[in-house]
Amino acid sequence: MTNQTIPTASGEIVIQSVNKSYGYGKDLKEVVKDCSLTIEAGKLSVMIGPSGCGKSTLIRLLAGFEKPTSGNITINGKPITGPNKDRLVVFQESALFPWMTTEENILYGPKARGELNQKSKDLAAFLIDKVGLNQFKSKFPNQLSGGMQRRAELARALINQPEVMILDEPFRGLDEMSKELMWEYYANLYEENRLTNFFVTTDIDEAIFLADRLIIMTNIPTQVAEIIEVNIPRPRRLSALFESDEANDIKMRALKILHQEAMKSFKSGSKAAADFIDAYSKRATNE
Ligand SMILES: Nc1ncnc2c1ncn2[C@@H]1O[C@H](COP(=O)(O)OP(=O)(O)O)[C@@H](O)[C@H]1O
Ligand SMILES: [Mg+2]
Repeated sequence: MTNQTIPTASGEIVIQSVNKSYGYGKDLKEVVKDCSLTIEAGKLSVMIGPSGCGKSTLIRLLAGFEKPTSGNITINGKPITGPNKDRLVVFQESALFPWMTTEENILYGPKARGELNQKSKDLAAFLIDKVGLNQFKSKFPNQLSGGMQRRAELARALINQPEVMILDEPFRGLDEMSKELMWEYYANLYEENRLTNFFVTTDIDEAIFLADRLIIMTNIPTQVAEIIEVNIPRPRRLSALFESDEANDIKMRALKILHQEAMKSFKSGSKAAADFIDAYSKRATNE
């Protein structure tokens, strides 16, 4: 049913020589610098980069919340001039409405547009089933676990049938078990709908498990350091993934680049970089 209701993939985003800086004079802060990237339609592109490198800034530009200082961003060849909820959904750790049930929360978008009808209710039922919340559709958010809340939020975004799903560290803060379960739910949704997805994370395992393309960013001011195509067949199984040489090779390659990026900013004396090097050095050697 969703194969008919969710449109086939479009939503190619082209970022060309984008710069974004804040402030002036001695307060000038360059966050994104000469960044060029094509987010391919119908693919799940995962961006990974050090904390504070400028990922969320880039997302605000894609969503049209802010404008680049210079450079161009287009979607399907047309310039992005402002936010458009049907086209781009930024999925964050936003609160569900506490006074609405799971089902009411998921139906919020259609209701707000005056499209609360049998079709939207059927789609809600389908998505509630897909995210494993059948038993919880009449419960309120405070009766759901953290993972269930994220799943409800995913369904709430997907019901709007956006051309592009943009997700900014959506599973941050979940415990390991819930996070891994989320990866599987989310990958499964993607494998069925094949929408253009742009997913930002700082978690390398999450990135490799999910990605068709892994976009590795430099430290601030950020630009693309390297793109790795992850041609591991779907559906992927988390338990088997990191037994494969391919996944491990990609992981080592990515960690090496991220480590080099952290080293660069370490030389510039940033404390965040020192923490980062610490974290990634441990991970690179422990595996
Ligand atoms: N409105 C702003 N004014 C000044 N600096 C900002 C603004 N927004 C973001 N920054 C700076 O940009 C940098 C990158 O932030 P962000 O894009 O949130 O990084 P990430 O999402 O990769 O962790 C930070 O150093 C932050 O201080
Ligand atoms: Mg961020």
